[in-house]
Order: sequence, then structure tokens, then C-alpha cells
Amino acid sequence: MHVLVLHGPNLNLLGTREPDVYGSLTLEEINRSIRHLAAELGCSVAFFQSNAEGGLIDAIQTAPADCNGILINPAAYTHTSIAIRDALAAVGLPFVEVHLSNIHRREEFRHISMVAPLAVGQICGFGLDSYLLGLRALFSHLENIQ
Ligand code: DQA
Repeated sequence: MHVLVLHGPNLNLLGTREPDVYGSLTLEEINRSIRHLAAELGCSVAFFQSNAEGGLIDAIQTAPADCNGILINPAAYTHTSIAIRDALAAVGLPFVEVHLSNIHRREEFRHISMVAPLAVGQICGFGLDSYLLGLRALFSHLENIQ
């Protein structure tokens, strides 16, 4: 099983970016924990972060070549990007949407997710654990549909 982990804009700044909202872990530390859990589960992971919508879309479009599913934090594009939603719909890979913060208890513009209606599920509000819970959930979903 191979999973693509996608991080959207500004997540490269984790560690120093609004630590009261997003915590103090860097993206590299988050990726390390994800890799560790993936090894425990017996799946492999690849990581990609982009601040550009097109970069994320290109990664989604090429994912089916070697990935079984996608774990994605589209960051601000969650709330705005019909193009990322369309890319996810086009490739049809199962994906889980994750967010460090609980987008539903924040500003109203964060309550809407363009991608949620297509996701296997959404996990938010648990910081690093959102990613880890998301990977576990995606992995067991992928096993169940094998
Ligand atoms: C985020 C939530 C988004 O609203 C925000 O734009 C982000 C990060 C999160 O992980 O909590 O950049 O996706």
C-alpha cells in the first residue's frame, strides 16, 4: 500500500506559524511521525508540499501511477479550490481530508470545504493526531476495499 501525503500552502511554515492555532511542530517533524506510523502499519508514504494550487493539482493527477490513496491537508485551498476538488474527482483515488485545527470552530469562511463531499472522511482539530488518525483511517479503508 502506498499513500501520498499532500500539504497545502503555508504548511511549510509550521513550527513558527501561529503556534497557538497550529502547534509548534515543524512540517518535517509531522512527516517523520507519519512515516513512523506508516512503517508500523506496513505501508509506504510519499510527501509533497506546495504553496501553489497547480503544484498540488499536478501531484494529484500523477498519484494514480503509484498510489492507492491520498492523505491531504489542502490548507486554505480547502475553502476555495474547485480545481483541487475537480482533480481529486478526476483521479478518483480514495482520500482523507485532515486539518490541524478544528476548522468548524474557527471563522465562518473555514467551515466550508470544497473537497469534503468527495472524501472518505474528514479529521480536524487534533494537531499532529489529525494526520495520524487520518492515515490509520485511510489505511483501513484501503484494506477493506482491496
Ligand atoms: C488548516 C486550516 C485552514 O483553514 C488553514 O487555511 C490552513 C491550515 C489546518 O490544518 O488547520 O492553512 O488546513
